[in-house]
Amino acid sequence: MAEPLKLAISKGRIFEETLPLLATADIYPREDPKTSRKLVLDTNREDLKLVIIRAADVPTYVEYGAADFGVAGKDVLLEHPGDGLYEPLDLRIAHCRMMVAGKSEMTPRLGHLRIATKYVRSTRRFYAERGEQVEVIKLYGSMELAPLVGLADRIVDLVDTGNTLRANGLVPLEHIADISSRLVVNKASMKMRHQPVKKFTRLMAEAVEKLH
Ligand code: ATP
Ligand code: PRP
Ligand code: MG
Repeated sequence: MAEPLKLAISKGRIFEETLPLLATADIYPREDPKTSRKLVLDTNREDLKLVIIRAADVPTYVEYGAADFGVAGKDVLLEHPGDGLYEPLDLRIAHCRMMVAGKSEMTPRLGHLRIATKYVRSTRRFYAERGEQVEVIKLYGSMELAPLVGLADRIVDLVDTGNTLRANGLVPLEHIADISSRLVVNKASMKMRHQPVKKFTRLMAEAVEKLH
């Protein structure tokens, strides 16, 4: 039999929200990454395995062909340089917005505005398009803290309910992009394993339609 196809997916939110789509396509992982320490999970289908990786690593695994497919947030894809991936399907899960946020009242700063974010590329692009010069500070999480302790004037982060911003006395200021998760496909897999790749993509597309 041919090598099973590998689907790269991160645990937590994306895994949980992808499960109903997989179930609609009659695909069931044999283990749950919440309780298992395994990083390669079998499914009820011999020809499909799941590989569990960090959300930000999904495009890299898929681009290098270590996984044939992946599920990745558009926020993560916007940060991934190059055009090494196909992005055939919006899975319409994990919806949120990428936004600029900050304190409602800000003491004006002499010089460029400082923006703390893990979304450096998207932030630079957003301000460059407006012709505004800013200083971008790269963080790996807990961006909401940065304006509270004077590290930055603003942040660029994901907002869903707005609870995290509110809890930290911040307000959303500007909308950068609507975010949802996408199915991404390795370019070589699309060519070399066209039939099974197309078939899986079609199954997922049908599942998205059924669930919406
Ligand atoms: P890690 O846990 O590895 O640091 P992460 O915080 O990016 O990474 P998740 O919080 O599981 O991991 O987010 C995965 C994806 O889910 C994000 O890339 C984004 O597309 C989406 N997402 C993140 N936060 C929210 C949210 N509050 N509501 C809806 N979707 C979200
Ligand atoms: C995400 C994101 C925001 C929060 C926004 O964090 O980074 O902090 O959700 O959602 P809200 O508007 O509904 O509050 P997450 O829950 O993924 O925690 P993390 O810091 O572990 O990534
Ligand atoms: Mg998160």
